[in-house]
Amino acid sequence: MKTTLHSAILATVAVAVGAVVSTRAYADSRDPANYIGPKMCGICHKSEDSGNALGKWQAGPHAKAFDTLGTPAAKNIAKKAGIDDPQKSGKCLKCHSTAYNFTESIATEKIKPEDGVTCESCHGPGKKFMAKSTMEDRAKSIAAGMIYPANESCKLCHNPESPNFKGFDEKAMVEKIAHPDPKVKH
Ligand code: HEC
Ligand code: HEC
Ligand code: HEC
Ligand code: HEC
Repeated sequence: MKTTLHSAILATVAVAVGAVVSTRAYADSRDPANYIGPKMCGICHKSEDSGNALGKWQAGPHAKAFDTLGTPAAKNIAKKAGIDDPQKSGKCLKCHSTAYNFTESIATEKIKPEDGVTCESCHGPGKKFMAKSTMEDRAKSIAAGMIYPANESCKLCHNPESPNFKGFDEKAMVEKIAHPDPKVKH
């Protein structure tokens, strides 16, 4: 019992610290005017020799985040919060889509809510860093708004405000969505 309470307190502190860091990254780099949509990223990130990040994302959990809001489980959760249709509610879409940009209303027309949580929710809006010459230079990409490391973004959604939150083991969770690019130097 004592151990459980102790870990709960530690978890709360970790979330609070994470929130401060993420909020800063959020404020600096998420101008809705700069979103381009996952298909545009995919133009350069779908070949096998670059790791096919597009294909890995499409097969992963984030691409179906909108569809999940259509399930009976989602409707049950929504009902308790007085929400009729979670696929139309900003209270759910703020974390289940990129289109809402972490707010309760639609923020960009460049990405459909149906696309779920896309590349740019984690890496930042791409308009200013998507040029090949910028992308090939990490420092230039960061200066143009690329969020690095992208782990800074996780806790904007994986936090206790999520009705399903059961904690966030960063290392294990990053591993589950890994999409390494053999051309990127680490
Ligand atoms: C015009 C082509 C192009 C487009 C469009 C593009 N990228 Fe890239 N990106 C590259 C190239 C080239 C690299 C260097 C690695 C390589 O050659 O695969 C790269 C590298 C990256 C890296 C690794 C950066 C590092 O230094 O660790 C990330 C993350 C990334 N891209 C995300 C994105 C996202 C997100 C989008 C859409 C918003 C996007 N890219 C759009 C060409 C592109
Ligand atoms: C603060 C961000 C956030 C908000 C707000 C949010 N979600 Fe989620 N939701 C998540 C995350 C993150 C997950 C992934 C669960 C995990 O692994 O921690 C998730 C998972 C789910 C799942 C899948 C559950 C499972 O265990 O497989 C359902 C269903 C769901 N959310 C419904 C909703 C509904 C309905 C709303 C609106 C009332 C909502 N969510 C609002 C972040 C959020
Ligand atoms: C859920 C968050 C998330 C989403 C969605 C996401 N990424 Fe990533 N991506 C990461 C993380 C974390 C890394 C590890 C490097 C880092 O911290 O920036 C990464 C790394 C990369 C890299 C560099 C790979 C390497 O070897 O370092 C590229 C390129 C990339 N992502 C492109 C994309 C593209 C394109 C999409 C959409 C099709 C996408 N990512 C979607 C979180 C995400
Ligand atoms: C914009 C909100 C958002 C961001 C940012 C985000 N996620 Fe998620 N994540 C979700 C939602 C929503 C789900 C539930 C998807 C579903 O089941 O439909 C989810 C599901 C997952 C899952 C699958 C569920 C599980 O427990 O295995 C993993 C793994 C995951 N996220 C890892 C990450 C990592 C790592 C990062 C940061 C690099 C990240 N996410 C950033 C919203 C987000």
